[in-house]
Amino acid sequence: MVHSSLLDHDIERILVSPEEIDRITTEIAAQIDDDFRDSGKRLLLLCILKGSVVFMGDLMKKISIPVEIDFMKVSSYGKSTSTSGRINILLDLQRKDLSELDIVIVEDIIDSGRTLSYLVEYLKLGGAHSVKTCTMLDKPSRRQVEFYPDYRGLEIPDEFVVGYGLDYAEQYRALPYIGILKPEVYTK
Ligand code: PRP
Repeated sequence: MVHSSLLDHDIERILVSPEEIDRITTEIAAQIDDDFRDSGKRLLLLCILKGSVVFMGDLMKKISIPVEIDFMKVSSYGKSTSTSGRINILLDLQRKDLSELDIVIVEDIIDSGRTLSYLVEYLKLGGAHSVKTCTMLDKPSRRQVEFYPDYRGLEIPDEFVVGYGLDYAEQYRALPYIGILKPEVYTK
C-alpha cells in the first residue's frame, strides 16, 4: 500500500484494503443505479454523520443516475448495555419534499441496529416515497433489534474497527482503509 499515516502504527491489521473498498463501492453503486433508474422519483443519499461521510463521498461519485445528498446527525444512548437505547436527532432534514424522494440512508456500520431501524420508521412516517438502507460494514453479532440492510458491503466480526470514516475518540477517520485497532490503544 502506497499510503502511509502517522496513525498506521496503531493498527493491528488491515481488515478492508483501499482496493477492496473500491470494488465494494463500485458494486453497491451499480446496484443502486439498477434499482432506482426507472423509479420516477428523485434519489436522495442521506448521510448519517459523522462516520458515513467517506463512504458517502465514494458512493455518490460512482452512482451514474442523478442523485441528491443530505445529512442527518443522531446520537444513541445506552449503546452497548441496554436494549431500550433512545435515538436523539441532533440535526434533522429541513425539507418538505419527502414524498418526492427515494431515500437511501448511508451508514458506515450497523451495530445494535437501533439507529437505522429508528431512522427508517422516522422517514417513512415523514412521508418519504421509499426508504432503503446501505452500510459499508455490518456486525450482525451485535444486534439488539432485528434489522437487515438493503445494501451491505461486508459482514465483519465484533472487532474494534477504525478508518474510512470510523473513529476512536474522533481519530482515525481519515485512514483510507478499515483496520483493527491495537487493544493497547483503547485500554491504556
Ligand atoms: C455509529 C454508526 C451508526 C451507529 C450504528 O455512529 O455510524 O450511526 O453508530 O450503531 P447502532 O446500530 O448500534 O445504532 P456513532 O454513534 O459512532 O457516531 P459517528 O458516526 O459520529 O462516529
